[in-house]
Formats: sequence, structure tokens, C-alpha cells
Amino acid sequence: MPSLKNDNFLRALARKPVTRQPIWMMRQAGRYLPEYRATRARAGDFLSLCKNPDLACEVTLQPLERFDLDAAIIFSDILTIPDAMGLGLHFVENEGPRFSRALQTEAEIRQLPIPDPATSLRYVMDAISVTKRALQQRVPLIGFSGSPWTLACYMIEGGSSARANTSQFDRIRKMAYQEPAILHLLLEKLTASIVLYLNAQIESGADAIMIFDTWGGLLSSSQYQEFSLNYMQKIMSQLHPIPKIVFTKNGGQWLDKISQSGCDAAGVDWTMDLATAAKLTQGRIALQGNLDPLALFAPEDVIEQEVKSILAAMKDYPGFVFNLGHGILQQTSPDRANFLIDAVHRFGQI
Ligand code: CP3
Repeated sequence: MPSLKNDNFLRALARKPVTRQPIWMMRQAGRYLPEYRATRARAGDFLSLCKNPDLACEVTLQPLERFDLDAAIIFSDILTIPDAMGLGLHFVENEGPRFSRALQTEAEIRQLPIPDPATSLRYVMDAISVTKRALQQRVPLIGFSGSPWTLACYMIEGGSSARANTSQFDRIRKMAYQEPAILHLLLEKLTASIVLYLNAQIESGADAIMIFDTWGGLLSSSQYQEFSLNYMQKIMSQLHPIPKIVFTKNGGQWLDKISQSGCDAAGVDWTMDLATAAKLTQGRIALQGNLDPLALFAPEDVIEQEVKSILAAMKDYPGFVFNLGHGILQQTSPDRANFLIDAVHRFGQI
């Protein structure tokens, strides 16, 4: 295997010494970059951009042209699998994803196909191989998938959940109590689909994979184990051997369980204290996180302070990847993102 010029990200995931503190940012390719908006306009819309391997490669590389990042993440979306299952994915401006055919009945769940990554998801594999070539081993390329639970949230809800009151994905959360067996059937199908999908991404050149469990934090502790972590564990046990990152947003309290699930690293959101996270995982896995994306709206001296305190908390921890606690926001100034990345490298010198 040709060797990477900058492998600090993979070294941190393997809890090996690094030559500088690695950093990448969730959603680093996206609407906060004017060049992304230009490419998206050329593609027509977001999904057409995802489905065009050359343009997906172009936007994957855009943040790396601008910033001194230590990893690339393939430009795609977690909802590619439900789309390939035939749910009719589209995006509504200022609202988010929608499915024209939400799952409503047990029969619909039973009929769901398990997509073949070589056909209906071929565009993702092509985007990865094109991007891997274009990267010329500069930095590692991350592949990803949603967790079965998180994909099921969107599939049962029919899209993003209304954020009114405290109701979030209530349909699937009721189902977990009322019809757990049917929900498990759906989660099993998603698990089988994700194993094929991620293994195909690895075969296409992904150097590490990340499972986004954005909505695992909606569950009670026992339900988290039953409906989310168990399935992620099952997936990881069937993947080709490359580094695996699990990110359960709002899952800080379960980091001890996550660290024993077969992952190499866990993502941590900004609500979790990193020193506490380190105590829960005991150095068994690497950690990744956790600057609040809103901190990028603060003045530079405040960003510096936040960077210093995160680095201080992780100073003696084996294996740390600096990241945001969730995706970078559309209104973020690219200059502030650049300032953050430089600050992490400046203060994180080894
Ligand atoms: O990190 C990266 O740079 C890679 C690209 C990436 C996208 N989506 C691009 C995207 C990744 C890793 C994702 C994952 C994803 N998609 C998640 C899990 C991570 C998370 O944020 O919690 C989820 C829940 C989705 C589903 C999804 N896709 C939603 C809810 C939305 C709409 C929200 C929004 O920001 O508008 C999307 C659209 C989406 N995915 C965009 C991007 C850049 C914006 C689309 C656009 O260009 O208009």
C-alpha cells in the first residue's frame, strides 16, 4: 500500500504517537464555503452533487485546498441507503431531507430491499475511488454511514423531525415501545445494508470509517444499548479491518459502553466534558471532538482559549483527534475555521 504523506489522523486513531495534533471538521465541505455553493449550483441540487463522482470529489477536496486539515471525508450523505431502498429522497430548501414514501406498515418494512453497493450505490464507490486518486496520499480519506437507528429515525418519520416543543422523532420512539419486533426487523435490514455499504467503501479506498449516530442520544440508556449500540457493534464486527469511529451525539454518558463495542475511536459532542470522557473510556479507544460549532462565532481570543482547554484536557490521553462537536454551520466564516485549524496546530505542537 502506498504510504500517506500525513498519517497523523490514522496514528491518533491507533493511539500511536503523532507529529502534530490532527484535526478535521464534521461537514467540512459544505455551504459555508462559497466554492461549494458554486459547485452545487453547477450540479443543480445537493443530491445531484452527491451522485456525480467528479463533482463530489471536487467538493471533498475544497476544504483541503483552503485549510491545513489532517483528513478528508467523502462528500455524500447518510440518507443514500434509504434512497437506494426506494424511499424517494429529496431535499426541501430550509427544511432538510424528505422521503416521498415514508415507512408506515410492517409489510413495507418486510419488502424493503437490501441495496447492492455495486449498483444502486455505485456512485458513492466511484466518488471514493476518484477522490482517493485525486488526493495523491496527502491525507487519509474517511468513508461513512448513518447508524441503523439514525437512518430508521428518518425513514419512519419521513424526513427531518419537526423541532416543535420537545417532540423529536416521536413516531419511531413510540414504535420502540409498541412494536419493538418490527423495529428490530428494520434495524436488522439496515445493519445488513450498512455492512455491505461500508465494506464496499473500504474496498474503494476509504482509510477509516465513521458511523454517525446523530439521534442515538434520544434513547433511554437501556434502549440505547438495545436499539442503537448493539447494531453498531454488529456492523463493526463484520467490517474489513480499518479504523472505525462511532459518534453518538448526546451519548457522552455511554462512552464506557461505546469504548467496548469494537470501535477504535468515539466522537464526543460539546456537551460532554472531555476529562470525564477520558475517565469513561480509560484509554481503550481514541477520542474525537468536541468544540461547539457555535464557538466559531466567537472572537479569535475566545477560540484560542477553547482550543487550549480542549488540548489541555487531552494532553496525556493516548489518541486524540481534534474536531467540532457536530457539523460546522452554514453561517460560519471560513476565516474563523482557518483560524481554528491553525490554532490547533500551533498549540498542539508535539
Ligand atoms: O462531513 C462532511 O463534509 C461530509 C458530508 C456529509 C453531509 N452529510 C453533507 C451534507 C456528512 C458526513 C453528512 C452526514 C449526515 N447527513 C448526517 C449525520 C451527521 C450529522 O450532521 O448529524 C445527517 C443527520 C444527515 C442528514 C441530512 N443531510 C440532513 C438533516 C440535512 C439537512 C440539514 C442541512 O444542513 O441542511 C442534509 C443535507 C446535507 N448533507 C448538506 C450537506 C453539505 C446540506 C445540503 C445542501 O448543500 O443544501
